[in-house]
Amino acid sequence: MTVAGRQVSRARVAEIAAREEQGYRDRTPKSAALFERARQSLPLGVASSFQAYDPYPLFMADARGSRIWDVDGNEYLDFDMAFGVLAAGHSHPILAEALQHRVANGTCYTFPVADGIELAEEIKARFGADLVRFSNSGTEATMDAIRVARGYTGREKIIKMEGGYHGHHDDVLVSIQPPRELMGPAESPTTVAASAGIPRSRIAETVIAPFNEPEMLAAILEAHDGEVAAILVEPVQFNIGVVPPKPGYLERLRELATEHGAVLIFDEVKTGVVLAWGGAYEYFGVRPDLFCLAKSIGGGIPIGAFGGRREVMAAIETLDGTPAFGQDGAGTGINRSTIPGGSTRVAHLGTFNGNPLSMAAGLVTLRQILTKDAYPRLHAMAERLTDGSQGVLDEYDLPGYAINVGPKGCVMFTPGRVTNYRDFIGLDDELWTASFFYLANRGILLPPGPDDQWTLSVQHTDAEIDRHVAVFREFAAELTA
Ligand SMILES: Cc1ncc(COP(=O)(O)O)c(C=O)c1O
Repeated sequence: MTVAGRQVSRARVAEIAAREEQGYRDRTPKSAALFERARQSLPLGVASSFQAYDPYPLFMADARGSRIWDVDGNEYLDFDMAFGVLAAGHSHPILAEALQHRVANGTCYTFPVADGIELAEEIKARFGADLVRFSNSGTEATMDAIRVARGYTGREKIIKMEGGYHGHHDDVLVSIQPPRELMGPAESPTTVAASAGIPRSRIAETVIAPFNEPEMLAAILEAHDGEVAAILVEPVQFNIGVVPPKPGYLERLRELATEHGAVLIFDEVKTGVVLAWGGAYEYFGVRPDLFCLAKSIGGGIPIGAFGGRREVMAAIETLDGTPAFGQDGAGTGINRSTIPGGSTRVAHLGTFNGNPLSMAAGLVTLRQILTKDAYPRLHAMAERLTDGSQGVLDEYDLPGYAINVGPKGCVMFTPGRVTNYRDFIGLDDELWTASFFYLANRGILLPPGPDDQWTLSVQHTDAEIDRHVAVFREFAAELTA
């Protein structure tokens, strides 16, 4: 293996991975037993296929603050934080108290509540938006935003970046981690279904572009001129480790979307209210037409939201008389007469949308926990973890680098800097596996896959960061002994 960093002995990596996996089995017999039972009732033994990993997932019993306990009573410092849901930490005391009141007073009315207005106002202020709607997950948020963009533009195609994950609806469940032999040329990647059961017709409407390559995107937009309703992008690719945008990339996306009359959608499901008070919008200073939120905005309660510019979001009210880009749509190719079915507005529906429980959770999380003054500390802790991890990689000359954007980061076990999905394929899976089990066995819990990253919460401490780094150092020392 040619790497920036020393040659790591493959035999040593395999030996540590095998030993640590056995240690994991030894520590977690109750999880193993629950998994066997779960497989009789749940495909793969889990409720969401993301929860499945070999040899079996930990079954959890309890969590508070930055800690989580499995059913065998093992305690972990949680750096997974539910795939980035918990910037507020587990069961933040302020939230727990507010929700007790809410649970005792009705959790679903399907009538609107005042908290929903306040939460929408809070999101508008943070994201520079005019209008907001709620849903129940990130998947719903991206699905709904895409429909709004299609209704607004009267076009059907969307552009999605290779390696990006935006939830589990058909339009976007493509080219997430496509196999090398199917992914096609770098400048015009093939659209590859990421699941069985996706109709060919859906795939035909999703065009794939490489992340971080604005001029390739420009050529793709030219090739589909007048057909693209939306460009959907996660401002930092957080589903292939941590891949930040190159300087100027998001700005160029903004220009290209405007030039081609396409709606620019930022998927802020992971970045929103985590990277900064105003999410990636504030962090990078680029304003999309629409944005999608979920995960951390609910402090651990299911929620989703999307919002943005009035003229685009107004498609939910009516398409008659709403001004297009540039007021009259001139030169944008927008022609609403192509809208199938002749409906004059975009449907956005959902029994649980805006329910009092998630509205209260969102409001307390944003107004009382993830307040402006929370971010400097979150960023400082993240730098401490990245610097500490990088220090270990340097000290032991290991192949990889530590990276964070705001309070989310990871160690990328790869030879060079990753700028898009195709670089990510070079990641050393075996080394990652050895480190995951090594750390878990010593009470440091990371997400169970190299494509995810650590998320810090307001309830983490510097001492916990230092513990994480110390265990990583033990791992590096053993690996190179
Ligand atoms: C960037 C991004 N968008 C959308 C989603 C889908 O969100 P959910 O799992 O809440 O449906 C995810 C989930 O991980 C995500 O990371």
